[in-house]
Amino acid sequence: MVTCQECGLARGRSQVVPGEGPEDAEIMFIGEGPGMHEDRQGRPFVGPAGQLLEELLALMGLRRDQVYICNVIKCRPPNNRDPLPNEIAACRHWLDDQIRLLRPKIIVTLGRYSMARWFPGQSISKVHGRPIQRDGAYVFPMYHPAAALHQQSLRAALEEDARKLPGLLAQVQRAHSETLVAAEERPTQLSLF
Ligand code: URA
Repeated sequence: MVTCQECGLARGRSQVVPGEGPEDAEIMFIGEGPGMHEDRQGRPFVGPAGQLLEELLALMGLRRDQVYICNVIKCRPPNNRDPLPNEIAACRHWLDDQIRLLRPKIIVTLGRYSMARWFPGQSISKVHGRPIQRDGAYVFPMYHPAAALHQQSLRAALEEDARKLPGLLAQVQRAHSETLVAAEERPTQLSLF
C-alpha cells in the first residue's frame, strides 16, 4: 500500500495513510480520506476531526487503541476535496483486504463516502444510528465528525448515536459467544450417532 500508484492521488500525497489499530479489534471505524494532519503524520484521524472522534469513543466507553481506524481512500486529495469515484474504486481493494483480515464485528461508517458502500443511494440523515447486518458484521452508519465541527446540530446526533454503540456491541458479543458454545456442543451431539 505504501508505494501504491493506482490513482492520481499518489502524486500529491506526502505518504499513504493505511489505517491503524489492533488486529483483534472488534470495531472498525471507516472515515473518508486523510486530511493535512493525517498526510503529515501517516495516521488516520489525528487532526480536529480525530479529536472529536476520540470524544465520541469515550462516550462509547472505548479508547482509540482498542479500535481499528481507517478511511475509504488512503491518500489525501488535493485541498481536501471530496474523493472522486475513480479514486474510491481504485482504493476499494485495500479496504476489502482490511475488512477481510480484521473481520470486525461492527463497522462504523463515518460520513457518506464510507456509508455509500453499504447504503447506496441512501441519505445519511435517514439511516444514521440504524445498524444493518452485512458482510458478517453490523454496519453502523454515523455522521462524519468533521461535519459536526461545522454544524452544531449534527454533534447532538453523533453523540446520541455514539451512546447506542455499547448496547450493540454487547448484543453482538452475546450472539458470538452463543455461536461458539453451540459449535463446541455440536461434536458431542454428533458423537452420539
Ligand atoms: N477525516 C477523515 O475522513 N479521515 C481522516 O483520517 C481524517 C479526517
